[in-house]
Amino acid sequence: MLRIGHVQLQSNLLLAPIAGYCDLAFRTICRRYGGLGLACTDLLSPQGLLRGTATSLDLAQTNDFDKPVGMQLYGGEPGIMADGALWARDHGATIIDINMGCPVDKVTKKDGGSRLLCIPDTAERIVDAVVNAVGKGSNPVPVTCKMRLGWFDDQPIAEWLAPRLVKAGACMITIHGRTTQQKFSGTVQYEGIRRVVAAIKAEHPGIPVIGNGDVTEPHHVPEMIARTGCDGVMIGRGALSTPWIFRDAHALMTTGVIPPPPGVEEIMQIMRDYFDLMRRYRTDHYAMVQIRRRVSWFAKRLPHCKPFKETLRTAPDSEAVYAALDAFSRGELRSRPPRGQDDQQEVEDSGSSGPNAEAEAA
Ligand SMILES: Cc1cc2nc3c(=O)[nH]c(=O)nc-3n(C[C@H](O)[C@H](O)[C@H](O)COP(=O)(O)O)c2cc1C
Repeated sequence: MLRIGHVQLQSNLLLAPIAGYCDLAFRTICRRYGGLGLACTDLLSPQGLLRGTATSLDLAQTNDFDKPVGMQLYGGEPGIMADGALWARDHGATIIDINMGCPVDKVTKKDGGSRLLCIPDTAERIVDAVVNAVGKGSNPVPVTCKMRLGWFDDQPIAEWLAPRLVKAGACMITIHGRTTQQKFSGTVQYEGIRRVVAAIKAEHPGIPVIGNGDVTEPHHVPEMIARTGCDGVMIGRGALSTPWIFRDAHALMTTGVIPPPPGVEEIMQIMRDYFDLMRRYRTDHYAMVQIRRRVSWFAKRLPHCKPFKETLRTAPDSEAVYAALDAFSRGELRSRPPRGQDDQQEVEDSGSSGPNAEAEAA
């Protein structure tokens, strides 16, 4: 079992922050299936939280069921990050995570995200300031960092920066096995992750290190652990199509057996619940926008669903969304499989939009 500072997790599987996707509604769906040790908000602007900007407050939403939860802050100014951490602590964060991996210009040009890999002294000062603000005293909130291997492909900064961040007070490091230059292209570098794990363990053997990148099937979890020596695994995009992946991976690791996958009706119920939760926590408009863009991800696990996807993508209102979900449950809104093509083939072909495409465009 994984322990972050004084926080004991129920499993060593973590849901990654995916900006625009891993909101309270989605985290709730993943948690209902079990197996999830820790989930995290998407990256949050401390200035936005402190000013009470509606978008930031929406992104920081949490509740009692959504625990333990990490709130992830980004930025390059130690004082503001510390104030943001105090806000997060007072609004339900179990853990404060510092983003050192985001490659998006909007974030890096203000010295946030993976730009911190290029200014290690600032990265260290941020950890120090945040730990001083929330990580000490009688009720400390553990501070963690999520980082990439480095900015440039040929400069693996993380393997020497990560131990320094731990020395500054970070209680856990998550390492996404890509560089900023790579953005989201290519495949995850297990060897790079292994080197970061080894560097941290050499100096701080008790500090958990989490491996991240390209885990889309339950058996990728033991593979990540075996190839890198990491203590736990964080899953992002794999959970978008398969929110029950934590249940499956946990079952695989503890019993050796993966439970049967949810059938079509259960997936429709997941989508209904997800839509309902978004309407409850946010607005009808938000729920409509999200369900239209998220249908491609759920569709990866649905057979012969092109008409269903199209209907949801063009649904004018919530009534039309519920009607489409009911219709697909009844066997309607399905394409006829081409001769010789089985369900699985169409499942594999469906959907090419979503965070991969968005991340590559960013
Ligand atoms: C669209 C998109 C948004 C992301 N947003 C965040 C974010 O807010 N904070 C963060 O630390 N990482 C973010 N990530 C990176 C993921 O957390 C994760 O490190 C990366 O996707 C690799 O893991 P995966 O292959 O399991 O998805 C984002 C990735 C994508 C594709």
